Amino acid sequence: MSREVEEIKSRLDIIELIGQYVKLTPAGANFKACCPFHNEKSPSMMVNREKQIWRCFGCGEGGDAFTFLQKIENIDFPEALKILAQKTGVVLERHDAKEESRKSRLYDLCDLTARYWHKVLLQSSRANEAREYVKRRGLSPESVEYFRLGFAIESWDDLVNFLRKRGFTDEEILEAGLSVRKSSGYGYYDRFRDRLMFPILDLSGRVVGFGGRTLNKDESAKYINSPQTQIYNKSTVLYGFYWAREAIKKADNCILVEGYMDTLPSHQMGVKNVAAISGTALTMEQIKILKRYSNNLSLALDMDAAGQMAASRSIDLALQEEMDVKVITLPHGSKDPGECIKNNPDDWAAAVKAAKPVMQYLFDKEMAGKDLSRPEEKKKIVATLMKQIKKLGSRVEEDYWLKDLAKKLDVSENVLRELSTTTSRETSPNRYVPQQEKPIKPAVITLDEKVFKRILSMVFVAPEYLGEVIETLPAEFSENNELTSLYKTFVMYYNSNKELLEQKNQNTNGSEPDLFDSFNIWVKK
Ligand code: CTP
Ligand code: MN
Repeated sequence: MSREVEEIKSRLDIIELIGQYVKLTPAGANFKACCPFHNEKSPSMMVNREKQIWRCFGCGEGGDAFTFLQKIENIDFPEALKILAQKTGVVLERHDAKEESRKSRLYDLCDLTARYWHKVLLQSSRANEAREYVKRRGLSPESVEYFRLGFAIESWDDLVNFLRKRGFTDEEILEAGLSVRKSSGYGYYDRFRDRLMFPILDLSGRVVGFGGRTLNKDESAKYINSPQTQIYNKSTVLYGFYWAREAIKKADNCILVEGYMDTLPSHQMGVKNVAAISGTALTMEQIKILKRYSNNLSLALDMDAAGQMAASRSIDLALQEEMDVKVITLPHGSKDPGECIKNNPDDWAAAVKAAKPVMQYLFDKEMAGKDLSRPEEKKKIVATLMKQIKKLGSRVEEDYWLKDLAKKLDVSENVLRELSTTTSRETSPNRYVPQQEKPIKPAVITLDEKVFKRILSMVFVAPEYLGEVIETLPAEFSENNELTSLYKTFVMYYNSNKELLEQKNQNTNGSEPDLFDSFNIWVKK
């Protein structure tokens, strides 16, 4: 065994191996990267090519190629050995079948199935229609091969029979998600029938599951997917990601689309930093993986309600993890990237280039085609966008967009700031679609309460400073609701008496609105 290990190590390039999982940059004699095993923003993981070792000076993890693979793929040593042996072309001595881990049998089973279905698609007379379909959808023979597309014929037991003959048990086929138990409880049938099959690969390129598209327009389930299995973890896998990794690193951007038939055509036409969320929202685990390759995310999700919903939740999470999120808008008439590419591939490339930062996107979307001089329109736009602004994590950004909104609508910034004290802050960032309001979290204290009380008492006796205070003080400053409420009263007072106060600033006589009245109203509340 150890001879095999040494042989593998001598043939392997650890930089290439680790580079498949994280973005490595040269650092003197070493390479460095942000450690994938703990959260960090500046790289503290070093990899050394000569010694074939890695070490993270942040969390203390380290070792050789085997330990890295084991840790990152969450696999045991025999599995890592098998993968690296295959990678380096080292032939392992035959191991006893019993020694083979259960998981590794499932990997073999899925791989064999992918190869079988691929061959059926290319050669079987029962796949004539499927081959026609593939052609009609514009998928090239090269793509069919590269993405290992296949065809499951219309049969209840074609695959099950094939796998049995190859030595797999009914239990294993079931565990791999490729068969379904009959409702009688006895026997199994093929899960995928009469479907174009898309193998789903994990980060090391192993087939772990499948998506199957029906060719039949009348079939209600357009897609059927493998269930979650011991080797297919749906919350970590993104369709297409394995093929997109290099391009994501190179472009320093990951484009997320919704489906199989968005991903494939995009790769085929040359935009390769694309993976699919497969019709659901992005998970935290997926974001963590994405972040190892790039901190930039561009979303091109379907324009239908489900797509928008998935997009909003995905954006929430990605922003929470401090990714830079952009939104890709498709040209009119294309419901998804797949369709856009079919209409005109250049449109897709252009849309990708023109991706807008989330807030920019929301502003443009909200204001497009509206008569911004009409007060009713202004009101509506303010209501929607203020909500979005309040969801921003950063106060600096909040300030920026508030000012931008004031300018674009020609509304006084102070009015918006007043509103901003009455619009509840949410901890989670933007969504396109209104969702159930989350419980309001207490605002962060940004100012010492004592100092704030002093400022309030100061403007109380010298209201001419109110304008300045309101300009500089953040809307929410304190966990103390009473103080917040008092401040709100002051802001409202200021806005309704602004002219008078400003006059007073210029010449200190003139009639002065009674701040005590505002205060009394507040006290009585
Ligand atoms: N999806 C699914 N089950 C369905 C419908 C959709 O799992 N019944 C997932 C698939 O991953 C699909 C994605 O959601 O790829 C997006 O759905 P859709 O836009 O309907 O499919 P496309 O990939 O665009 O495929 P096509 O162009 O063939 O309609
Ligand atoms: Mn689609």
